[in-house]
Amino acid sequence: MSTPSSPAALPPGAVLGIVGGGQLGRMSAVAAAQLGYRTHILTDEPEGPAAQVAHAVTIGAYDDPDALRRFATAVDVVTFEFENISADGLELLASLRPVRPSGHILRISQDRVAEKRFLTEAGIPVAPWREVSTPQDLSVARTDLGLPFILKTTRLGYDGKGQSRIRRDEDMQPAFDTLVPHPLVAEGMVDFACEISVMVARGLDGIAVTFDVTENRHRNGILDLSLAPARVPETIRDDARKIALRIADALDLVGLLGVEMFVDRDGQVLVNEIAPRPHNSGHWTMDACPVDQFAMHVRAVTGLPLPPAARHSDAAMKNLVGPDDMALWPAILATPGLLPHHYGKTEARPGRKMGHVNVLFPAGALPGEFGVDAALGPLAEGYGQQDDPTD
Ligand SMILES: Nc1ncnc2c1ncn2[C@@H]1O[C@H](COP(=O)(O)OP(=O)(O)O)[C@@H](O)[C@H]1O
Ligand SMILES: [Mg+2]
Repeated sequence: MSTPSSPAALPPGAVLGIVGGGQLGRMSAVAAAQLGYRTHILTDEPEGPAAQVAHAVTIGAYDDPDALRRFATAVDVVTFEFENISADGLELLASLRPVRPSGHILRISQDRVAEKRFLTEAGIPVAPWREVSTPQDLSVARTDLGLPFILKTTRLGYDGKGQSRIRRDEDMQPAFDTLVPHPLVAEGMVDFACEISVMVARGLDGIAVTFDVTENRHRNGILDLSLAPARVPETIRDDARKIALRIADALDLVGLLGVEMFVDRDGQVLVNEIAPRPHNSGHWTMDACPVDQFAMHVRAVTGLPLPPAARHSDAAMKNLVGPDDMALWPAILATPGLLPHHYGKTEARPGRKMGHVNVLFPAGALPGEFGVDAALGPLAEGYGQQDDPTD
C-alpha cells in the first residue's frame, strides 16, 4: 500500500517512540494520535504528562541499556522531548531504529560549547563567547568580553538554571566555584531590544518550513509570555526565519527545531540557543495554526509531507507556572476567549510549568501590551496598577 507521501512515510498504526515523559511528549502524542499513529513513551515517571496519553510506556532510566532496548524494539521511529540522553544511549537507539532528529544534532544541542562552535562555524551570528575550564580562562574571558557577562554550565541548563550574571570582578570566583561541572561557557551580555524565536521543521525530503517569528518575555528565567507575530520590523523577521532555515540545513535536520534569538539594539539577530524538539515558545501554534508545531514535529519524524506553517490568527501564549497560576485554573476555565492547556502534573511546585493558556486575535490585530494583558483576564498583570504607591 502506498502512503500519501514518500515511500519512507510511516503508515497509520505505526508507533512513534518518544524519549521523555513531559508536556512536550504529551502534546506530541496527542498530535500523533490525530494522524493515526500510536505513541510509546520512554520515561522514568510512570504517571507523567506524556505517559497519561500514550498507547504504551517503558519505565526506565534514560541511560539503562535494557530499558532503551525494550523501548526501541517496540517502536518504528524514535524522537525526543528530553534531549539529555547519553551518547551511549543515543548510539544504542540508533543501532536499533531510525532516530530523528539524528544523534549528532542532540549532541550539539546538549553542550553549549559544541552548540556555539557549530553556530560560529556555520557563520550564524552569536554573542561573543569563550570556553572556561580554568580560572585563567575566566580572566581571559573577563578581559575579552568585558563586564557584565554571563557564565553558564555547558550541559543540563534550563529555565535560566545553571547560569550566573557576572557584574563585578568579585562575582567571578564564586560563580566559577558554584557552577559545575566544568568547563563552563562565558558569554558577552547582549543588551537586547527583545527576544524572539523561530520554530523550523524539516522533512525527510529536505524541505523545510518555518512558523512565524515569536516574541518572548521571560520572568525569573522562565518563559512567561509569547506573542505571535513578533512586533519587530519585517526585515528582522526575515532575517530570523532565514537563520533558522540555515541552521536546519546545516544540521541536515529531520524533525523540529526551536531557535532562540536576541534582537540587539542595532536590529541584528543573534542566536542564543537551539533545541531540536517542540519548544515552549511555539505553543501558540496549537490554537493559531491549522497545523501546529506538534503536528509538524510528528509529520517530520514520520516522513509525512510538511504543509505550509500557516497562521490564521495572531496569538498570545501565557505559561501557567507553579501553584500561584494554577490557583487561577477555575477562573481561567470560566473566562471566554482563554484557551487552556493542562499538562496533567499533580504537583505544582514553584517554578514548575503546569500548563499554558492561548488567546487569539484576528490576524493583524495583535494589540499592544495593555490589550494583551487585558485579554488574559484573570492572568492579567494589571500593568500600571502594581506600582501604584497608594495600594
Ligand atoms: N548572553 C546573554 N545576554 C543577555 N541575556 C541572556 C544571555 N544569555 C541568556 N540570557 C537570558 O537568560 C535567558 C535564559 O538563558 P538561556 O541561555 O536561553 O538558557 P536556558 O537553557 O535556561 O533557556 C535567556 O532567554 C535570556 O533572557
Ligand atoms: Mg533558553
